[in-house]
Amino acid sequence: MDYKELMEKAKKASENSYSPYSNFPVGACVLAESGKTYIGTNVENASYGATICAERSAIVNAIVNGERKLCAVAIYGPKMKRCAPCGPCRQVINEFRSDNGVDIILEGDNGELELHTIDELLPLGFDL
Ligand code: THU
Repeated sequence: MDYKELMEKAKKASENSYSPYSNFPVGACVLAESGKTYIGTNVENASYGATICAERSAIVNAIVNGERKLCAVAIYGPKMKRCAPCGPCRQVINEFRSDNGVDIILEGDNGELELHTIDELLPLGFDL
C-alpha cells in the first residue's frame, strides 16, 4: 500500500470527524499486516474526557476486524501541519506494532509526506 493512498484515506476520514467542542477534526488510517486498511476519526463528547482520538478509533476498527499487527498509521488534521499522535495514542500504536515496528505518516510542508517511526516517537515504550 502506497503511503500517499493511506494519507488520502486519513484525509477522507477527517471529513467525518465529530468535533463540535474543539473544532479540530482529525482523520487516521492504519495499514495492518494483512494489507487491509482501517479508518478512524476523532469522536468527541460533552464530558470531554470520553473523547476518542482518530488514531485510536482507527486502531479499534482494525482490532474489531481481527487484526493484531499494524505496519503504518497515517494521520491528518486539516488545521495543523504534521498533526502528530498524542501520548496515549503513541502507547496504543505501540501495543499493536508489527515485528518491524510501525511507520507514522504525517503531512508536512507543501503537502509532502513525512515518515516517522513509533520507536522515534515513543522511545522506551512500555510493554509487558
Ligand atoms: N486528537 C486526535 O484525534 N488525535 C491526536 O493525536 C491529537 C488530538 C483530537 C482529540 C480532540 O478531539 C481534538 O483532536 C483536539 O484535541
